[in-house]
Amino acid sequence: MENAHKKTRGGFGNLLAETGRIAAGSLDNSGKLQSICDLLRKSVPHYDWVGFYVADAATKTLRLGPFSGAPTEHTRIAFGQGICGQAAEKKETFLVRDVSKESNYLSCSIHVKSEIVVPVMRDGEVVAELDVDSHTPDAFSEEDRAFLEQVAGIVSSLF
Ligand code: SME
Repeated sequence: MENAHKKTRGGFGNLLAETGRIAAGSLDNSGKLQSICDLLRKSVPHYDWVGFYVADAATKTLRLGPFSGAPTEHTRIAFGQGICGQAAEKKETFLVRDVSKESNYLSCSIHVKSEIVVPVMRDGEVVAELDVDSHTPDAFSEEDRAFLEQVAGIVSSLF
């Protein structure tokens, strides 16, 4: 939905500040990542699933890390496979407005209509990914992209 992001307009700055506080806090890294997933999912109405995949450069696979939302069968994804795998291979954000139009796509649930996957980079390599699914068609705007890329920058040191 074109206007879905408007509900959180103005709120992304606060969420970035809170994400920064969690990242600098006293939890262990997995607790920090879990808290950030929970924060994002509960705060942004069109974020229905928020999770991290951890990259293993040696085996070129992604392993599911902390997430908030329904469990997924896709706990290991090879680079190149699905939206997540393509984002890892290309080292760039993939914003998918309509998942039903994607041929290289791994479905987690029939309810998911759009998705954004943001690589978490360190020293030029993909160390993880931030994946957000929405039950709303065309839910993600350029504001979501900018926000989530900033979140990825904040969490980069946690991997
Ligand atoms: N849809 C993703 C798989 C991960 S789930 O969304 C949690 C993909 O195509 O890579």
